[in-house]
Amino acid sequence: MSTTAYDVEPGDGVRPGDPVVVNRYTVGARINHWITAVSLVLLAISGLAMFHPRLFFLTALFGGGQNTRAIHPWIGVVLFFGFFGLFLRFWRANLWEHTDNVWLARLRDVLGGHEEKLPEVGKYNAGQKVVFWSMSVLIVVLITSGVVIWDQYFFEYTTLGQKQIAVLVHSITAIVAICVWIVHVYAAIWVRGTISAMTRGRVTGGWAWRHHRKWLKELVVGRPKPQ
Ligand code: HEM
Repeated sequence: MSTTAYDVEPGDGVRPGDPVVVNRYTVGARINHWITAVSLVLLAISGLAMFHPRLFFLTALFGGGQNTRAIHPWIGVVLFFGFFGLFLRFWRANLWEHTDNVWLARLRDVLGGHEEKLPEVGKYNAGQKVVFWSMSVLIVVLITSGVVIWDQYFFEYTTLGQKQIAVLVHSITAIVAICVWIVHVYAAIWVRGTISAMTRGRVTGGWAWRHHRKWLKELVVGRPKPQ
């Protein structure tokens, strides 16, 4: 996370009228994010390839059925640790606040683009927080159920009945995680100017003022001290 609000310092040759740019993610956070993102996409493709015979052709991308079966759990390990890194970086900014309930209750205004009717938003809005905490739970369930059915290394540690339950839990959780991921990507594209946060690490001042005003104000003047 960035500690400096602006991308420019006084005396940097910036002229009045130049657009304000605000730092949002460090290089480390972005690399961490994209490793997590790529691993989830690869996991979804390799998982779906083994999920239904009609999707079996997707195993060609991983060098055939046996290779897909061997690689899939390892990509899961990458996703788990990748997301764990994101969790450590962002959990604090995703803590639930009272104003998040108001934001959710006025979802109609959010979708209608009437953000001026909503409370000022910090680094993340309630929708992003729901995605964050859902993903946190889903990924823990995925890795746990995944280990139970990872026969190559853990076959003898669980019974057949436990493995059957784990397969069911793993499949349902994976489908829910893919849906949550679609919501995340859709929101990132729908709110114009958001993608650059994760590609270049920066957003415009206008974007921050419009969508995350409380965060912007805190960057500029600092957090209010507790009484
Ligand atoms: C592959 C497509 C993806 C795209 C295009 C994408 C895009 C983005 C963008 C633009 C942001 C910045 C949002 C902001 O700062 O307001 C972001 C944040 C984030 N993304 Fe992704 N993402 C993708 C996949 C994923 C996946 C697969 C995960 C996790 C499994 C993930 C987890 C996160 C987290 C934790 C944040 C920080 C926001 C928060 O903590 O609420 N992303 N993503």
